[in-house]
Formats: sequence, structure tokens, C-alpha cells
Amino acid sequence: MSESLLSVANLRKSFGALLVVDDVTFDVAGGEVLGVMGPNGAGKTTMLNLVSGALAPDGGRVVLAGKDVTRVGVVGRCRRGIGRTHQVPRPFERMSVFENILVGATNGGGTHRGRERYRLANGAIERAGLSGKANRLAGSLPLLDRKRLELARALATAPEILLLDEIAGGLTEPEVQKLVELVLELRASGLGIVWIEHVVHALMATVDRLMALTYGRVIAQGDPQEVMESEELQHAYLGTVAP
Ligand SMILES: Nc1ncnc2c1ncn2[C@@H]1O[C@H](COP(=O)(O)OP(=O)(O)OP(=O)(O)O)[C@@H](O)[C@H]1O
Ligand SMILES: [Mg+2]
Repeated sequence: MSESLLSVANLRKSFGALLVVDDVTFDVAGGEVLGVMGPNGAGKTTMLNLVSGALAPDGGRVVLAGKDVTRVGVVGRCRRGIGRTHQVPRPFERMSVFENILVGATNGGGTHRGRERYRLANGAIERAGLSGKANRLAGSLPLLDRKRLELARALATAPEILLLDEIAGGLTEPEVQKLVELVLELRASGLGIVWIEHVVHALMATVDRLMALTYGRVIAQGDPQEVMESEELQHAYLGTVAP
């Protein structure tokens, strides 16, 4: 098995008295997709925020390519190769779509300047399905295009680890298929991907491993089919297990 690109160990986070991420441990190698499932409020987005550096954990470690980045902030982690989308899109509203994506290309992995930034931004815009909308004001985009913009901005950072938070919801079936192809293409190019998603068939078409969370805890992790069929997952979603 190839060495882990991202290694997350014993992550923990509380908001006041509420323990939201409880001893979460997982690894992602380059060229591997880890799917994350779990009911609303399970702590998935919070876990992603701890990995991206948007939140500091109460305990645990985040290691990227062998280097401990637990104390590195969100900008530093982005520069070191962690790209992410936001579940609730966060565009720079008063900038154009292209400018938003250029911000990603400028602040991402390595030091991209001049023409290279434009090449990255143009590639990302096309891959995310935003061609033709480059000059639109980001604040004027409808929700689906805002989600596409999240993906484009993350891709423009040229990440090694890509964190995706519910990007398939609301897409038409052909659009979901295009997204699945894109994720498979990124995986083939060596990215490690963590994909939180409720659109189960999109996950099942792409992920190498699946992790299920409830109440901040990992209740199952491993082969996607086995996790899908596990009593733990069925219990988490349905509350009961069929006899
Ligand atoms: N900044 C915060 N302050 C206080 N509580 C929070 C904060 N962020 C999240 N929570 C709470 O933490 C819990 C987990 O939230 P989180 O957004 O991580 O869940 P999720 O699994 O991503 O859910 P969903 O599927 O709805 O996106 C919820 O109970 C939520 O209300
Ligand atoms: Mg969430």
C-alpha cells in the first residue's frame, strides 16, 4: 500500500459542551478517494474544517506528506496542498468568477505567478463547468454555480489533497456523471480526495474506501460495499436494523 499523503489521528473538537468530532482517525493516500457519509449534524463538515485548518482541534493531529500541520493555519495548509470546497458556498461576492478562481490559483500550492496562474484558473473554470461565466459577478450566481465556483477555486489551488463537502446535491443526473468522471480523473492524476456526500451512487462510483460518522464518531470504515451494508450505517440512518 502506498504511503499516506494525509494522516489524521485522534481528532477531537467540542463546541461548548457538545462533542462534535470524537477521536476521528483516517488516512488518505495519493490516488485514493475516501468517501464520508453520516446523517445531518454528524460532524462531517467540522471534521473537514479541522483538516483544512479552518478550525483548531482540541486534540489530535493532522499530518500532510509526513509533516505535522496541526498548528499550521488555513492559508498555510492551502499553500502546502490542501484544497477544499465549502458546503455553504463562500465566494468573494463582489469579484468576478474568474477573479475568485484566480485567488485560488494565487494562494495555492507552490508559488504560481503570471501566466501559470492564468493557466490554472482557466483549467479549473472549464473542469468545474463554468466556461462562459468567467466574467459574471460571483455574487450574482445561483446556488449551483456557486457550488461549481467552490470546486473551481479549490482546483485552481493545484491541491494534492482535495476536500469536497457535498458538491453533488442539486445536480442533474448527467451533471453527476460528469462530476464522477472528474473525480476519477483527479484521482488518476494522483490526488488524494476526501468526499463528503449524500448522493450515494456518486460516492459508490468513485470511492476506494468509505467512512461513516455519527455523533462525531467513526462507526464504520473500509470497503465501500461492506460499509454501506453494515448494521452500523443502517442503524445510523434508519434508527433500527431490519431482522
Ligand atoms: N461553529 C459552531 N458552533 C456551535 N455548534 C456548531 C458549530 N458548527 C457546527 N456545530 C454543531 O456541530 C454539529 C455538527 O455539525 P456539522 O456541520 O459538522 O455536521 P455535518 O455532519 O456536516 O451535517 P450536515 O450533513 O447537515 O452538513 C451540529 O450539531 C452543529 O449544530
Ligand atoms: Mg456538513
